[in-house]
Amino acid sequence: MEVVVVKDAREAGRLAASAVTALLARTPDAVLGLATGSSPLPLYDELARRSTEEGLDLSRATAFALDEYVGLRRDHPASYRSVIRREFSERVTIDPARVHTPDGLAGDLVASCAAYEDAIRDAGGIDLQILGLGADGHIGFNEPGSSLASRTRIKTLTEQTRRDNARFFSSLSEVPHHVVTQGVGTIMDARHVVLLAGGAAKAQAVHGLVEGPVTAMCVGSVLQFHPHTTVIVDEAAASAL
Ligand code: GLP
Repeated sequence: MEVVVVKDAREAGRLAASAVTALLARTPDAVLGLATGSSPLPLYDELARRSTEEGLDLSRATAFALDEYVGLRRDHPASYRSVIRREFSERVTIDPARVHTPDGLAGDLVASCAAYEDAIRDAGGIDLQILGLGADGHIGFNEPGSSLASRTRIKTLTEQTRRDNARFFSSLSEVPHHVVTQGVGTIMDARHVVLLAGGAAKAQAVHGLVEGPVTAMCVGSVLQFHPHTTVIVDEAAASAL
């Protein structure tokens, strides 16, 4: 695991964008894993800038989002489908038909989770997975106690995560209780993981991720076993290291 301490979110975004740019230069049909939350937003801003100003070409790339709320209408502004469209797909040259999010409205959620796993596998697996980090150490929506070998499945959010994410909704009661998320095992299959975390609220989670014991109580710590993970943090998030 490589830990890079940067000065601010913008620098973090630039560094992560350089990893994406280098990958696309080598592999124009790369498969990206996309995260939501606020941490990756500077990365998407930088990819949008490079697309417009420097001709960064994502037209042959494919992308899979990490997770989605269950039961939230697709066009709700906080659905991860909407977020990925707004922040990423509509600002770069990727073919929108090649950008996938788990279906939180499927009639048969279990079958739909299995189909999502198949789609990732059929695309050749994820070359570069972007990740954020929950204050409790979660990655994707794999809350504390998640199986470290899990695949895409339904999870129940903790109250802390619902509260943390309430800022994207008009009230806490509107935040769904259930989500579909790629599993920890799914994330571990990505060939390169780039995790972004900033701010003092993430310091304990970053400590657990980098220096803690590998434990399902801080799910991100499993990345200590991943062969190629880059952790990009600002000084506040690195303050407990
Ligand atoms: C949500 C997402 C995670 C994200 C986390 C942290 O729970 N499902 O993928 O990492 O939020 O979000 P933020 O970057 O806004 O702190």
